[in-house]
Amino acid sequence: MTELAHLFSPLKIGPMEIANRIMQPGMSAGMVVDKDLHVAPEMIAYYEERARSRPGMMAIGQSMVVPPTPGYTPQGMIYLHDDKYIPSLKKLVDAVQSHGVKFGIQLGDTGTQGGGAVHLSPSAVPARAAATGDARLRPELKALTIEEIAQVVQYFASAALRCKQAGFDFVEIHSGHGYLLSAFLTPYFNRRTDAYGGSLENRARFLLEIVAAVRDAVGPERGIGVKINGEDYLEDEGAFTIGECVEVCRMLEHAGVDYLAVTAGVMGAKRLTIPPLYEPQACFNDLAVAVKQAVKIPVATIGRIKDVRMADQLVAEDRADIVCMGRAFIVDSAFVDKARRGDMRDIRTCLADCRGCADHEMRSIKKGLYGQTSCVLNPRVLRESVCIDIEGSARGNPKKVLVVGAGLAGLEAARRAAFSGHQVTLCDSREFIGGQIRWAEMIPGRREIGDMLPWYQYQLEKYGVDVRLSTEVDEQVIRQFAPDVMFVATGSVPQVPQSMIDAVLNVQNIGLVMADDIFEFSPEIGARVLVVGGDQIGMQIADYLSERGSTVIVAEAHNHFAFKLAANDRWYLISRLIEKQVRRIKNVRAIEIEAEDQVWLQCGDNREHLPGIDTIVFASERKSMRGLAEVGERLGIETHIVGDASDVNSEDAGMIFSVVAQAYDAARQI
Ligand SMILES: Cc1cc2nc3c(=O)[nH]c(=O)nc-3n(C[C@H](O)[C@H](O)[C@H](O)COP(=O)(O)OP(=O)(O)OC[C@H]3O[C@@H](n4cnc5c(N)ncnc54)[C@H](O)[C@@H]3O)c2cc1C
Ligand SMILES: Cc1cc2nc3c(=O)[nH]c(=O)nc-3n(C[C@H](O)[C@H](O)[C@H](O)COP(=O)(O)O)c2cc1C
Ligand code: SF4
Repeated sequence: MTELAHLFSPLKIGPMEIANRIMQPGMSAGMVVDKDLHVAPEMIAYYEERARSRPGMMAIGQSMVVPPTPGYTPQGMIYLHDDKYIPSLKKLVDAVQSHGVKFGIQLGDTGTQGGGAVHLSPSAVPARAAATGDARLRPELKALTIEEIAQVVQYFASAALRCKQAGFDFVEIHSGHGYLLSAFLTPYFNRRTDAYGGSLENRARFLLEIVAAVRDAVGPERGIGVKINGEDYLEDEGAFTIGECVEVCRMLEHAGVDYLAVTAGVMGAKRLTIPPLYEPQACFNDLAVAVKQAVKIPVATIGRIKDVRMADQLVAEDRADIVCMGRAFIVDSAFVDKARRGDMRDIRTCLADCRGCADHEMRSIKKGLYGQTSCVLNPRVLRESVCIDIEGSARGNPKKVLVVGAGLAGLEAARRAAFSGHQVTLCDSREFIGGQIRWAEMIPGRREIGDMLPWYQYQLEKYGVDVRLSTEVDEQVIRQFAPDVMFVATGSVPQVPQSMIDAVLNVQNIGLVMADDIFEFSPEIGARVLVVGGDQIGMQIADYLSERGSTVIVAEAHNHFAFKLAANDRWYLISRLIEKQVRRIKNVRAIEIEAEDQVWLQCGDNREHLPGIDTIVFASERKSMRGLAEVGERLGIETHIVGDASDVNSEDAGMIFSVVAQAYDAARQI
């Protein structure tokens, strides 16, 4: 604990004192409401589980102050325009505060970047990327009149009063991420010529009026924070930049705001608000530092902070007063407590792949489902009250468990079964744990995708799993071992698409390489490479090989690339490939290889010759390896197939997301 003395020191923020510097920032993660928009029990369970580990402060994500347009049925968000929402919010507040955590809520309007039938904006300039709301809606874009601005100010004030009545310790006004108030600050979005546009003072007027009205509503005994963009990272003229942010922060301090949370990015910007692993850790801290140098009130830093030691250092070096750790709370609800007792190895850290949290939520909304946040490594997210993990629950009646394969599926199955108290043996034919993750972490900029492996290594030790590496399991081994339960976690291997087998038989001198072999056997790769398959693996391999000097072309059968990856992750990966001039060809119907190794692509009605290809990498299809399941069943062993061995094709399969979730669910039920 002395190691993290700065992080675990108290801080006075306006009328509140927080016990330590860690904040769970406002996230829509965990925001589950019933059909009448009252807080659902799952939401209380989600927040209370995180409150139990006692961060200094926590906030609910952006909650809507403006009533929904008549005729529009909102879903999946907290609304604050009516007193009827107070009682269920109060239950949530009571649950969180019972753990000594200061609890707040973000007040805002998503402007042009959210759901709803009408998108409020300063000047009816559309968002830079598709809005995140239900794709089936065609919202009206509306520039606010002066009278409507005054009305919105009142909505903020009355929402804040309701939050006070529900018992919240503080409210946080959301003025970041390109949402309504942030758009008013940004000249690109705010093209007004009245008192709310033009000069910085004018662009900040709306926000400052809201701060004043909210203070009137909540009085001095409640805290008020503002989450603000340090940079939009828009490349056009008219971005809101750190120089202006610092000025606005001075105004906010003068207006009586108690703390500032410095964030960054808008939808479609070069750098994104929920940064993927390509961004360095603490990627937006320089912005918080600039603000801190200009104001005396506490400043929170946000963005890719997942390591408590780094968080401590940020406070120690006066680079932040409060450290927001968003996804860190999603992936490990108890990390604050683990840090407090110095058990760092037990902290499961975020991979910053965005796939299970932000992206899964967006994919769900596009399907008309709401409140579907999850996490690739933490399948208990929003199932906190369903999946009660009790250590040692099977100790009275332990089973002999054999897990075949120490890829992620096997690691999770072994961990969870041993956690219950079963006697677990984990075998892998290779001399290391991790399976394909060992290849995934070799891709440029993606080393952190393997950050769960030291954690699993520790869990195996902690729960006494007998790990046998360089041990191939076959029928004889299974018979000798005679387990009660077997997990077949034998993964998948790349395969040549059926449609290409004839073409491949024509090859004379082109090198034919299976995707995974690149990493395991380092085969010779030529100067001009065709990668077959442009989903997550093909695109990452294109990055890997182009980094090593090959000219790479990716051929993809569908009309999109890296679809399996999260949109934020994909955005950075594709930008890298564009920069390196990796050619991506979509809608490829067939690949033909004619005499003398001449490669042709069939795209729609066009046929294109690709001269000089000297290596073809197969990265489009994988085959699940589950032959041992048949052996297990024949021998009468309770057998579970998990991970890639079970499925590689459906939307979430062939990914960490489904691999871990499936293994966890199977193992907790034996
Ligand atoms: C280059 C690359 C990049 C990727 N990037 C991402 C990404 O960014 N995000 C993401 O979500 N997913 C990614 N994936 C996919 C992800 O890594 C896999 O879905 C996941 O790791 C599969 O885990 P698994 O345990 O099911 O299988 P595997 O990792 O294939 O593990 C199976 C294990 O079983 C062992 N084994 C097999 N047969 C036997 C036997 N008979 N006896 C003993 N041991 C045996 C193997 O040695 C292996 O270690 C990537 C994959 C690759 C190849
Ligand atoms: C699933 C998810 C939902 C989010 N929802 C919100 C939100 O409602 N309001 C907000 O200000 N930020 C939201 N964010 C952004 C986070 O608050 C934070 O700024 C961002 O994730 C970077 O911090 P991190 O790297 O610690 O996660 C969300 C992030 C995630 C992952
Ligand atoms: S899904 Fe990935 S990015 Fe999101 S919290 Fe989990 S590990 Fe972190």
